Amino acid sequence: MKGIIFYKFNRMVETVFGADMLEQVLSNSHLASEGIYTVNGYYSHDELVEQVRVLSELTEMDVSQIIFDFGVFLFGELVRLPSPFMSNYKDAFTMIADVDSVIHPEVQRQHPDANLPRFETLLRDEKTLKIVYRSSRHFDDLAHGLMQGCLNHFGEKASIKSEPYQSGTLFILSK
Ligand code: HEM
Repeated sequence: MKGIIFYKFNRMVETVFGADMLEQVLSNSHLASEGIYTVNGYYSHDELVEQVRVLSELTEMDVSQIIFDFGVFLFGELVRLPSPFMSNYKDAFTMIADVDSVIHPEVQRQHPDANLPRFETLLRDEKTLKIVYRSSRHFDDLAHGLMQGCLNHFGEKASIKSEPYQSGTLFILSK
């Protein structure tokens, strides 16, 4: 997983729980990288899972909740990265439906080592978006949080439900 994701996770821990908590998370986690991440480096996604496990132990928060909250936070960070096409988006459904065909391919072009999940849109209209998430990492809670972050970014409200679907997870966003 790209170093930027770890970097942003550590910034979230620092912002929400404080610098002492970040230090405890890094020192209590078993990390091959020893917790030193550069944004363009590449690290095993297990290191993120490990840090989340330790943060969950220290805060007694649910692992799922931590990853979801991180997704919400991460979207706010990713959307601010300099990119020519990002400002073209005016609503959440259009942006989420374009992740697989526009946004992630651009990430892949700039970072050939990125390992991105796949999304397949099954249905999209004014009120509903049905989209399937597939990844060997099964970061469903992260995908859920990123979608919620996208809705927040555009000031939109929709419920997000998920269910297993053909070796992936179907997210149903309803307005
Ligand atoms: C609603 C919008 C988005 C969703 C649902 C989404 C979903 C995800 C998920 C779930 C992952 C984790 C990897 C996995 O599951 O296998 C991921 C990775 C990533 N995404 Fe997105 N994403 C969104 C928008 C963006 C945006 C706006 C950017 C930045 C331009 C971006 C850049 C990345 C990068 C750099 C990674 C890490 C790839 C790696 O570690 O190799 N994503 N995305």
